[in-house]
Amino acid sequence: MVKRRNLLVGSLGLPMLPLFAAGCSQGGGESNPYLLGNYAPVDGEFTHTDLQVTGTIPAELEGRFLRNGPNPVGADPSDHHWFVGRGMVHGMRLRDGKAEWYRNRYVGGASPNTNVIGHAGRTMAIVESGGMTQDMSYVLDSVGDNTSIGTGYTAHPKYDPRTGELHAMCYDWANLRDHVRYVVVDANGEWADETEIPLPGMPMIHDMSLTENYAVIFDLPVTLSFVALGTGASFPFRWDNEYEPRVGLLPRGGSAEDIIWRGITQNYAYHPMNAYEDAAGNVVIDIVRYDRMFESDVYGPFGDSQPRLDRWTINPRDEVGANVVKEETIDERPQEFPRCHPDLNGQPYQYGYTVASANNTFPGIYKHDLRTGQATQHDMGAGRHSAEPVFIPKEGSTAEDDGYLMTFVYDAGKDTSELVILDAQDMSRPAIAQVHIPSRVPYGFHGNWVPDTIVGPTT
Ligand SMILES: [Fe+2]
Repeated sequence: MVKRRNLLVGSLGLPMLPLFAAGCSQGGGESNPYLLGNYAPVDGEFTHTDLQVTGTIPAELEGRFLRNGPNPVGADPSDHHWFVGRGMVHGMRLRDGKAEWYRNRYVGGASPNTNVIGHAGRTMAIVESGGMTQDMSYVLDSVGDNTSIGTGYTAHPKYDPRTGELHAMCYDWANLRDHVRYVVVDANGEWADETEIPLPGMPMIHDMSLTENYAVIFDLPVTLSFVALGTGASFPFRWDNEYEPRVGLLPRGGSAEDIIWRGITQNYAYHPMNAYEDAAGNVVIDIVRYDRMFESDVYGPFGDSQPRLDRWTINPRDEVGANVVKEETIDERPQEFPRCHPDLNGQPYQYGYTVASANNTFPGIYKHDLRTGQATQHDMGAGRHSAEPVFIPKEGSTAEDDGYLMTFVYDAGKDTSELVILDAQDMSRPAIAQVHIPSRVPYGFHGNWVPDTIVGPTT
């Protein structure tokens, strides 16, 4: 572990920071698929309080469903990348079986656009590209930079349900070309520890996995392209055929010299569903994998290959044949945005949830039984498209899948969106509740159910 340093953002003199710049020029979006349909930004901030509900909102749900994503008004279609644009958080407040409000608000400060979490009494908008984490009020007004965490966080901290800590793999702005940092934020929301990890280059590291004994590093062949930077591309990461892909196991509490590296076939992965250690001590990672990324499609993730659900098993012991990751396919169907029971993060689990992906849209939700290999699904219906499914356990539940799946759904026929609540135990059942929003929630990235017990309405 190393002492906290003053991180010098932009020490390489990069021409644009944060890397996923929010600045855009004028354009119509006629040809760029990531500006069409429900990828298009909405044209304002709305507050809706008189919300029509179909079905019944479970009375036990008291809190907010929050989701972050870019809202790139004025983007240039000749250069626009889906990951770029001012962050906008969409939120729905539920209480006593009612939907009290829907709000969408631009994120202030560096405008982090990728995820929004509730932790230690704070609502935080986050991104991996180097900008400060932004604190938001209960009603989603931006209230300032979060200086407790510091500059250059991530979009995907991993919550450890046993300790209440957040674990994150972050860029190292002082050594951007060849390092990342493993950062631990404690249960009080304060920076607690940091480990410097040297790498052969600057890969795009979007997420990490956490198990009982390891932090997992995905060192995969999408790297910062100085050619793309030189041409002024809004998003400068590209497929790198020369970069050797590997996965690293950093023993928790250890240092970079302790990392166990294992080779893997060429691929890119943004999002693990979960990871754990099996009875033999192997690290098992369920993850959404692409064969190629940003090789020819430089606007977004879906043009070069389709994402599938894989299982990667890593033997950390020094045995014959243990030098590579064992790869298996769980489900070949295109899918993304995996989630699981939040209290089982880093531990053995049975159920995971993803959104189906088809032609740049998201027509349904898959539920995977990882013990039987069976999958069930919930189709959203004609012209209706889902987003990341967030699992919320029922109060007092004992079965792992006894809970709700919550997501925003876009209805192309009405050009409006809904908050949809599903019964996770019965995917064939119609939605428990649909909260109809008079405006649209564009396809975005990540969010969470933040109960009032985590972040209350006085904040
Ligand atoms: Fe992500």
